[in-house]
Amino acid sequence: MTQLIENIKDWRSLRGELAKENKSVGFVPTMGALHEGHSSLVRKSKSENDVTLVSIFVNPTQFEDSQDLEKYPRTLVEDLKRLESDGADYVLFPRAEDMYADKYQYQVVENILSRDLCGAHRPGHFQGVLTVVLKLLNIAEAHRAYFGEKDFQQYVLIRGMAEAFFLKTEIVPCPTVREQDGLAMSSRNTRLSSDDRQRATLFPELLEHTTNPEEITRRLIDRGFFVDYIEEKWGRRFGAVRLGDVRLIDNVKI
Ligand code: PAF
Repeated sequence: MTQLIENIKDWRSLRGELAKENKSVGFVPTMGALHEGHSSLVRKSKSENDVTLVSIFVNPTQFEDSQDLEKYPRTLVEDLKRLESDGADYVLFPRAEDMYADKYQYQVVENILSRDLCGAHRPGHFQGVLTVVLKLLNIAEAHRAYFGEKDFQQYVLIRGMAEAFFLKTEIVPCPTVREQDGLAMSSRNTRLSSDDRQRATLFPELLEHTTNPEEITRRLIDRGFFVDYIEEKWGRRFGAVRLGDVRLIDNVKI
């Protein structure tokens, strides 16, 4: 039975009990609107730890656009059902006032990687992500925390932060989970119109099979995509595009 915890203090005292029992804790931080990609993280955590904690917190500081924050899907009832069937033990659903009691006075700033790729198009985004993840990792006190490789730049930055600040939690990357037609699973996919949803499959297809970033960009623009970037680094080909007001990101190994 999955237990919902809305108060950070309640989790901390429970965490103390788990420590006394020598239980290992796996942590899956999320912003809700859960899909099979999140379930795969929960399953991995369950296979490697005694107890799995999932957090659901739509983090306001990582949205540079207030409309994007408003439109972000919130589906707590369905999320809890999914987590129950995935076998998550605890769900932390903290309040923004508790997470940001400091009113975002304290922030984690990374000066190089966070300005590249998505960071170049979303100023302040990774500052918000790193700040909330540091808070969540400190709250969870997990042995391992699981992050999807769809957000590969986020994973690299979090891994770097964990090293830089000597965090005890191991940061575990997990492979991207895709729809049958190849589109990377994302909470944002549900906001695509049916035309755009069909068109969206071209994005992973071109990333996977076309080697020239300029050609990928040209072909996406021809089909009505707005392209933020297509770039290669770290042995991967990265892309971020927009269809209507929905932003999609993806990356593949090259
Ligand atoms: O990847 C996400 O869902 C979010 O960026 C995260 C890591 C939960 C931080 O809010």
